[in-house]
Amino acid sequence: PDVITVQELSNRMAVRGVEIIKFLMRQGVMLKINDVIDNDTAELVATEFGHTVRRVSEADVEEGFIGAEDIDDHLEPRPPVVTVMGHVDHGKTSLLDALRKADVAGGEHGGITQHIGAYQVRLENGQKVTFLDTPGHAAFSQMRARGANITDIVILVVAGDDGVMPQTVEAIKHARAAEVPIIVAVNKMDKPGSDSTRVTNELLQHEIVVESLGGDTQIVEVSAKTGQGLDELIERILLQAEVLDLKANPDRTADGVVIEAKLDKGRGAVSTVLVNRGTLKRGDIVVAGSQFGRVRALLNERNEQLTEAGPATPVEILGLDGVPSPGDSFAVVENEARARELTEYRIRLKREKSMHPVGAGATSMADMMA
Ligand code: GTP
Ligand code: MG
Repeated sequence: PDVITVQELSNRMAVRGVEIIKFLMRQGVMLKINDVIDNDTAELVATEFGHTVRRVSEADVEEGFIGAEDIDDHLEPRPPVVTVMGHVDHGKTSLLDALRKADVAGGEHGGITQHIGAYQVRLENGQKVTFLDTPGHAAFSQMRARGANITDIVILVVAGDDGVMPQTVEAIKHARAAEVPIIVAVNKMDKPGSDSTRVTNELLQHEIVVESLGGDTQIVEVSAKTGQGLDELIERILLQAEVLDLKANPDRTADGVVIEAKLDKGRGAVSTVLVNRGTLKRGDIVVAGSQFGRVRALLNERNEQLTEAGPATPVEILGLDGVPSPGDSFAVVENEARARELTEYRIRLKREKSMHPVGAGATSMADMMA
């Protein structure tokens, strides 16, 4: 099932709706201007009127993004997206906070005032790196379950005084399933009793083989507390990123993934999103999961207003009519009618797919009503 209407197809092809309706009639299909046509028929119509049809990826079609132009022939280098994972209390957030000090744009920003799940640093050499925190693995699992592999590199944080623990193993599984390279950061090296050799051996039991043992996993001893090893960690990240040769097209309408979202008393729905492709702009109409709205403001991690955000940039967006779920994909659409159509389609899809009773795990009004 898909969701292009006769009207929309007519707009897109710049052909009068009545011409399409007449053509369809000749094929034995009776449709009115606001009726929905399925993908195959739409393709047939388009071809009939002399348009070449570009089918976007299966996943996009699933999501209902038929028609999103997908011309990724103009690719530019983009920053790596690095996700920090590991066992509870092993220092993921502390490490991210410490790495943030390498941000030249941040300046002498004093302490970090708010919890940030996603931010971008600009290094002295001008390179940018995007970091994502994982408070538990819920968001990451959800994203992976939906096939949205948003991370390029996983930093596996292992406390040197605690070693490999259950969530460390979980994180390894996630990274493997996503086929993402792992850089091990043995943290808390300032603590007496920290032992990176022990960590290396424990990792071996999970088939993570570090370079010194002939494997391909990089390992760095660090301390989020003293700053030990952080420069080296950044170097390794950049090295890995170079190997991956990451690129994206900034010159298209944006899409990406919701990292986290909440309802703020004063500001309404606040969603942190990561732009995957294209450039997200203030004023864009966005569909995120089964929510939509016009982007009223774009904010970076320093609460600065942006006018746009390119590939691999995490931003907070204001203006959605509800709170999407972590892992939801988002995309810019051409107008509100299209946004409505898409969200309705998604709600319908969700309802059809849902095995659970209405309201189970609901995170928004739309979910509950779906
Ligand atoms: P969760 O998000 O709850 O899973 O924890 P986390 O992995 O983000 O750990 P967090 O950064 O909150 O750190 C946990 C505790 O370890 C805090 O008390 C930190 O101060 C401490 N800690 C983190 N890194 C270091 C380090 O390098 N050295 C020392 N001595 N303590 C550290
Ligand atoms: Mg944390």
